[in-house]
Amino acid sequence: ATYKILLLPGDGIGPEVAGEVSKVLAWFTRAGIARFETETDLVGGAAIDAHGVPLSEAAMDRAKAADAVLFGAVGGPKWAGVPYAKRPEAGLLRLRKDLGLFANLRPAICYPALAEASALKRELVEGLDIVIVRELTGGVYFGEPKEIVTLEDGQKRAVDTQVYTTGEIERIAAVAFDLARKRRNKVASAEKHNVMKTGVLWKETVTRLHAEQYSDVGLEHVLADNCAMQLVRNPKQYDVLVTDNLFGDILSDVAAMLTGSLGMLPSASLGAVENGTRRALYEPVHGSAPDIAGQNLANPIAMIGSLAMALRYSFGLVEAADQLESAITRTLASGTRTRDIASPGTNAVGTSEMGDAIVRELQAQ
Ligand code: NAI
Ligand code: MG
Repeated sequence: ATYKILLLPGDGIGPEVAGEVSKVLAWFTRAGIARFETETDLVGGAAIDAHGVPLSEAAMDRAKAADAVLFGAVGGPKWAGVPYAKRPEAGLLRLRKDLGLFANLRPAICYPALAEASALKRELVEGLDIVIVRELTGGVYFGEPKEIVTLEDGQKRAVDTQVYTTGEIERIAAVAFDLARKRRNKVASAEKHNVMKTGVLWKETVTRLHAEQYSDVGLEHVLADNCAMQLVRNPKQYDVLVTDNLFGDILSDVAAMLTGSLGMLPSASLGAVENGTRRALYEPVHGSAPDIAGQNLANPIAMIGSLAMALRYSFGLVEAADQLESAITRTLASGTRTRDIASPGTNAVGTSEMGDAIVRELQAQ
């Protein structure tokens, strides 16, 4: 099969880390493991400079036609003055909205060679590999009413509303269960049914979907506050962790701190299944890092790890994904470090040397 990828490098270090992904894709094609048809387009500030908008209609159409979008990063001081609706970030928001990306997947992987960079003790995080599945388009960030009103006595009153429908809960839970089947077959669902009606419905709906369609997958319910504690106490007990927008925002930041550098964290955003494929965008968690852009200093592992997620979750190329992740692990184990993950006073390699080293490890397998 041929897999259609739209590569949107974006701004700052985006094009540098995207370049390393292209090297990896070229290797997979050369090795005869899979064929990729890759198109490249502009997004963010680069698109503003060329077309006056952060994402052209043509790029949006290409995104819809692709099996997966690989996104670098957008933004930078050059576009700080542009009006809100036309900011570089609006390009990403448009992609999320028009592709209907309701599920955000944030893995927390702790490479053994980097365990000392974690906020936790080595034995707690070494080999850690969990994925947080966060609901992205519902919940308290979007629910109505959402307002601040002035009361008769002069006080103000602020209201945010947490809303979830069974349909919204079912589709995010289905993403988590499907994901677990491609991993260690275990889901933990975090909510607060003890104090929230949305928590009651969340737990009920996940339980029912599990019984009806996913009884082969392990399921555990956990209160979100306890979950935060468990993530710090013993994160390796989890495989896939599914939760709502607000709790997911917090729990994924907790999980990120278990792993070390921002330059190491990949992510995926998934949408509805259309014509047999699930809409998907893969991107590093980090931004465009203007402070180091154009200097061959960026760590490409978050971006290359995002490609590994695309191989696994969009294309079903599980073996290729395993190969790529193990190439990253072995590259780090050999001591190769970009500046952000190198110990002070030790030698660091550049962006392209890190990409080359990973391709060499792929070749050596
Ligand atoms: P940032 O993630 O770009 O950078 C934060 C710090 O981490 C910087 O010191 C940077 O040098 C370092 N860093 C980030 N990625 C790295 C990598 N791959 N290798 C080595 N070091 C790395 O976040 P910041 O500085 O808050 O934002 C910079 C720009 O990026 C802003 O315009 C912001 O709006 C945009 N941004 C874009 C995102 C996206 O495209 N999804 C996400 C976050 C920020
Ligand atoms: Mg956050």
